Amino acid sequence: MSRLCDKGRGGMRFDILTLFPGMFEGPFGDSIIKRAREAGIISIHIHNIRDFATDKHHITDDYPYGGGGGMVMKPEPIFACVEHVLADVLPEEEAPPIILLTPQGRLFTQQVAMELAQRRRLVLICGRYEGVDERVREHLVTDEISIGDYVLSGGEIPAMVVVDAVTRLLPGALGYAMAPLEDSHAMGLLEGPQYTRPAEFRGWRVPDVLLSGNHAEVARWRRQQSLRRTLERRPDLLASATLTQEDREFLASLGYRGPFSDDKREE
Ligand SMILES: C[S@@+](CC[C@H](N)C(=O)[O-])C[C@H]1O[C@@H](n2cnc3c(N)ncnc32)[C@H](O)[C@@H]1O
Repeated sequence: MSRLCDKGRGGMRFDILTLFPGMFEGPFGDSIIKRAREAGIISIHIHNIRDFATDKHHITDDYPYGGGGGMVMKPEPIFACVEHVLADVLPEEEAPPIILLTPQGRLFTQQVAMELAQRRRLVLICGRYEGVDERVREHLVTDEISIGDYVLSGGEIPAMVVVDAVTRLLPGALGYAMAPLEDSHAMGLLEGPQYTRPAEFRGWRVPDVLLSGNHAEVARWRRQQSLRRTLERRPDLLASATLTQEDREFLASLGYRGPFSDDKREE
């Protein structure tokens, strides 16, 4: 299978280091990511860590010192691969973050996706087996990201998650420019319910306000639904969301009394 390697054309660049390059062909070959690559909004470069193992058998893992089960990824091929990837970064250019995907990293959230979307380039290292030699973490990577409190077999799916979430935030990646701002988590709340045609399906009608054509009323209804849904499903988010007085009054009518993000902290 051919190695995924786009021509850089000024968009955001992702360099992904992996032992399983073939895993990326499908997820990056369809839909929004495919279109973003074709439009030059992003470019994706997959690097096989095994190509950077210099021994005869291209060995990339070894037994853990001190015993124990499983294998650990060796540091030399990972360092060599990252150094190869960074070789074309000009001195005046911003050094890209070198991100290790690991269940021990900081949790990947929409805020982290927004932060990463500001960068020109990201280097993502996918671990396998029992993980990577600690010296990679200590002396090579600049950031560590976890996509959730569970353990996957490798960093490839987490890397896909990061690429997808970041790409949809880039200008031009989505057909509707405001969509990323309206998605759940973008503004600290969950998005409310969505409906499309038909207006009535098996006797279940779309809320009348959505058919009213009154844009102000629709916006107000959407905001209230978003607040209601967040209170029902993720009340923890309300404590850090930016809320207007009207939002607070609506939440109070539902029984929510705080905490709020601007509550005075005790000295
Ligand atoms: C089986 S895991 C190793 C877990 C490691 N022994 C530990 O306890 O931290 C193999 C690789 O999958 C990736 N991985 C697994 N779960 C992940 C998660 N929740 N977020 C990001 N990467 C993850 C990491 O790259 C990791 O090195």
